[in-house]
Amino acid sequence: MANRYAPVLRYLHWIMAGLILVAYLAIEQRGAFGRGTGRFVMMQTHFWIGISIFLLVWWRLAARIRKGAPPITPALPAWQAIPAKLLHLSLYAFFIVMPILGMMTAWTDGKALYVPFTDIALPALMAENRDLAHQLEDLHGSIGEAFYWVIGLHIVAALYHHFFRRDDTLRRMK
Ligand code: HEM
Ligand code: HEM
Repeated sequence: MANRYAPVLRYLHWIMAGLILVAYLAIEQRGAFGRGTGRFVMMQTHFWIGISIFLLVWWRLAARIRKGAPPITPALPAWQAIPAKLLHLSLYAFFIVMPILGMMTAWTDGKALYVPFTDIALPALMAENRDLAHQLEDLHGSIGEAFYWVIGLHIVAALYHHFFRRDDTLRRMK
């Protein structure tokens, strides 16, 4: 039991993994309920789930710095430990960069971020600019597509550790 991530890190890991899933589902399925209200709700869900990720990541980073990570037993050779660390850093960067690009896309595209269940919009911090909006949307979308692979690799690595290397990597996060 002792050799696990701190509870706050375990909870935040699974909550944020779930939020990422919903953010992707909402945007990929945004046309599923037609073009009117359904699409609007899916877009606003995407926005607010993404903003929640952006808020939670700071708490998670602070907790991670304060509490550290438990060692993996048996220990990893450097050729696995270093790429694992880089992969985790890229996931943290993703939690920060994606929502920022997303908000910039929404504002420059003239899409308002409504406080849920109200028609109060957050003030837009950028002016409407369709050309810039297209570039930002491309970048936000391309990173989003690329991270299907990165997140997939992360999950495959976790399963590899558990079922093939048979170490405690995954149990530390359960
Ligand atoms: C980690 C969080 C996020 C992830 C993983 C993510 C992922 C994605 C993906 C994959 C797309 C492209 C969909 C496609 O091209 O079919 C997209 C589009 C978009 N996202 Fe995000 N996003 C995140 C956060 C945000 C946030 C916080 C906002 C705004 C507040 C936002 C606003 C947008 C907008 C405006 C589009 C363009 C959709 C359209 O015009 O139809 N995203 N997002
Ligand atoms: C079925 C899905 C998932 C499984 C089985 C899983 C499993 C794990 C495991 C076992 C660790 C500990 C790795 C280690 O200490 O070396 C970990 C860490 C991590 N996971 Fe996941 N994960 C999943 C989904 C996700 C998703 C969707 C994201 C974000 C997009 C994510 C982000 C992270 C991050 C950033 C860490 C680093 C934690 C740290 O040391 O600070 N995970 N995951």
